[in-house]
Amino acid sequence: MNLNVIILAAGNGKRMHSTLPKVMHKVGGKTMLEHVLISAKKLKPTSINVVLNPKIESLKESFKSYDIHWHTQLEQKGTADAVKTVLPSLKKDEKVLILYADTPLIDSNLLETFINYMPESDVKVLTVELENPFGYGRIIREQAEEEIVAKIIEEVEADHIQKNIKECNTGIIFSEVKKLSNLISEVNNDNSKKEFYLTDIVSIANAKEMMVVPLLSKETNSLLGVNDKCQLEETEQIFQNNKRKKFLQQGVTMLDSKSIFFKGDVEIGIDVEIEANVIFEGNVKIGNNVQVKANTIIKDSLIDDNSEIKPYSIVEDSSIGKNCNIGPFARIRPNCNLEENVGIGNFVEVKASNIKKNTKANHLTYLGDSDIGENVNVGAGVITCNYDGVDKHKTIIKDNVFIGSDSQLIAPIIVEEGVTIAAGSTITENSEKDSLLIARSRQQEKKNWKKIR
Ligand code: UD1
Ligand code: CA
Repeated sequence: MNLNVIILAAGNGKRMHSTLPKVMHKVGGKTMLEHVLISAKKLKPTSINVVLNPKIESLKESFKSYDIHWHTQLEQKGTADAVKTVLPSLKKDEKVLILYADTPLIDSNLLETFINYMPESDVKVLTVELENPFGYGRIIREQAEEEIVAKIIEEVEADHIQKNIKECNTGIIFSEVKKLSNLISEVNNDNSKKEFYLTDIVSIANAKEMMVVPLLSKETNSLLGVNDKCQLEETEQIFQNNKRKKFLQQGVTMLDSKSIFFKGDVEIGIDVEIEANVIFEGNVKIGNNVQVKANTIIKDSLIDDNSEIKPYSIVEDSSIGKNCNIGPFARIRPNCNLEENVGIGNFVEVKASNIKKNTKANHLTYLGDSDIGENVNVGAGVITCNYDGVDKHKTIIKDNVFIGSDSQLIAPIIVEEGVTIAAGSTITENSEKDSLLIARSRQQEKKNWKKIR
């Protein structure tokens, strides 16, 4: 079957009260449009067509990795008009599936079932029963023939009796290009919103004795539309609960799963324990037997086996090796690469640095733009002074170096292998390996010192 997908994303999204286009609002760290694109792509369609309005065309940039045919709906005259902008570019005998970009949790397996359901029908409508159907188009089934949809009535057009109907239109419709084009050409805007409703094709098709069948799905949660921030939050909660359940079933231990958030693509190994108030963002990979303690954020990073991220720590865009100890109160900024058994302790900030195995920086330290060797001990309060006010410079610390507390390394600088730096030193020059460097003023002692007022 040659399947074309049309994703409607041109609406104004007024009910979001935001300058951000509605479909660019995120659920689980990804834009709503991207969620729908991912599901659409899994169907391996002949084409994916997205309808945008001219005001939001700049968002195309964010979707370069998808093979999308973009279409512009010049004025937001309704969903039928939006579909109309695409149909002339599709082959008449091919099939078409319409999706709405504001229904982000749509699942490709359900779409697959829907596409294959009752192939002899002319138009198929995916429906759902909602406890609170407010805002949705209601499904009016044919009396005599229950499995036929006679009409879809929009909320604003519905009378009291129709408003009590709980079966709703999800917006997901399947038909053939030729049939859909004919039906849409007869849709008018003679209604209270003066819009061309796509849903009107149902009664038009019935008048032509075409067969319009509903598929009532029980997967309510994946079919909710997002029109406002309340529905956005509700959808986010459903997404998060699905992720939590998935990881719990997979064997991850969570102290309080409700307080753990997954905003992106997260992979978690076995025997991992996650405490409360934790956010995973972007592409995160957690190895086996990792401990993620309370109040931490891990973004676009790898945490390898047996490592522990202690409370109140932030790890961003970095790779943490096996058996590492990070935190509490540590900040690993982008582009850090820590080998195994590295210790980064409290109030230590590390940025764009490579740290080799068995090295420790346990207290109150800044390591920026540095390459640090194996078995290095960085004392309390050490600072790599990487910025001279104009440029950033590199600090290289080789294997087995001992840096005494409260020392500053003025970059660019190389500290050779085996060097010991005395506490309180300001190191400005390179030295030979295995030396002891003391760069501080001598202590003076004035005996029997009397304070004079
Ligand atoms: C729509 C359906 C309603 C259904 C509900 C499901 C119509 C007339 N109504 O209502 O039956 O129950 O979705 O969530 O179809 N869009 C355009 N161009 C436009 C208008 C809208 O591209 O001119 C896009 C929007 O970006 C959105 C989708 O179409 O992705 C639906 O539009 P929206 O205004 O959200 O329709 P609803 O009122 O939710
Ligand atoms: Ca909607």
